[in-house]
Amino acid sequence: MRAKRGIGSAPLKGRRVLVRVDFNVPQDPQGGIADDRRIIEALPTLNHLRAAGARSILMTHLGRPEGHRDPRFSLRPVVHRLSGILGQPVPLADDIVGIHAIELSTRLENGQFLMLENLRFHPGEEANDPGFAAQLARLGEMFVEDAFGTVHRAHASTVGVPKRLPSFAGLLVEREIRELSRLTADVDRPYAALLGGAKVADKLPLLTSFCGRADIVLIGGALAFPFLAAQGARLGATPREEGQEENVRRLVDAARAVGTEVVLPTDLVVERPGSVEPETYDLARVPADALARDIGPATRARFIAALARTKTVFWNGPLGLVEDERFATGTREVLRGLGGVPGFHVAAGGDSARFVQELGAAGSFQFISTGGGAALEFVEGLELPGLAVLPDA
Ligand code: 3PG
Repeated sequence: MRAKRGIGSAPLKGRRVLVRVDFNVPQDPQGGIADDRRIIEALPTLNHLRAAGARSILMTHLGRPEGHRDPRFSLRPVVHRLSGILGQPVPLADDIVGIHAIELSTRLENGQFLMLENLRFHPGEEANDPGFAAQLARLGEMFVEDAFGTVHRAHASTVGVPKRLPSFAGLLVEREIRELSRLTADVDRPYAALLGGAKVADKLPLLTSFCGRADIVLIGGALAFPFLAAQGARLGATPREEGQEENVRRLVDAARAVGTEVVLPTDLVVERPGSVEPETYDLARVPADALARDIGPATRARFIAALARTKTVFWNGPLGLVEDERFATGTREVLRGLGGVPGFHVAAGGDSARFVQELGAAGSFQFISTGGGAALEFVEGLELPGLAVLPDA
């Protein structure tokens, strides 16, 4: 993708700048912030705006409150954390686009920040309502898009506002475009996609997009079960998605026709009723009462050997039930094995960034995207409305 006009060229001093960030951070059961990575990743842009003397009005969503004010999704904990990180108070305009927000935004001084309350408390955000977009746009004189995780949404703050104001890409968005573009154009080959997670139905478009683009696709996790079943494997009592066998058969045929190798597990780690100890079986020997939970050691070794021959790797989705330590070995070993392979390795989508940290595999990746669905759609080659609306560099 072509680079977007960045904030380096924006006249920021003394200007009221609306900044879309993605502070949709995971919350703990008490409503606190479980992981502040998305806040930390926005700091280069926020520090740049502060140093340049901009008056920044931050806007984000948190969770899915569906157009209603819901205290569980208030940005109070977020502004609290952000104020601490920035070392200066960040007030919260709880009426989003009301009198209070207008007053606070006009009182901002150079280098100061204001945060609007959760955009999704207002039904106009997700509906990309023109009236709401115009109200937001009136709070600023220019717009900076730094919410890479949300650029696949055509909402008021991601599309409606940049249509109404001079717009620029923030430093995080610029970096995400630069790094993820290395997976879509002029890719250093061989190129592997290592995919896991749960649902084939969700991942079919992504899987299909790798046919002909990747040299090799390695599939683990529950994502592999319909593929194995389509080959005639019996997976014991493992629950699996119904109605996908024809789709995956077609996908494997299409991959073969364009020279993309599809690699599936040959052994599995399973759980059996009444036993806490995991057991390992070749595909042909999985007992009738077994629940498949992870890829087995032979598969791990095959995956690592295949990845060792590559120069570019895209990873999304765990290869087993990593939430249970007994079934995290497959993902951990393969991701750590990747650390010994020279090349460009990217982790993206959903909880992948968290898993990378938890499994001690951060050193295996040259880039970890902040995007969930946005990163997957980017890699898939789809047009993202929040990027399409920004002027090219
Ligand atoms: C994300 O976490 O992927 C983004 O913040 C978008 O959130 P959404 O899926 O609720 O639109």
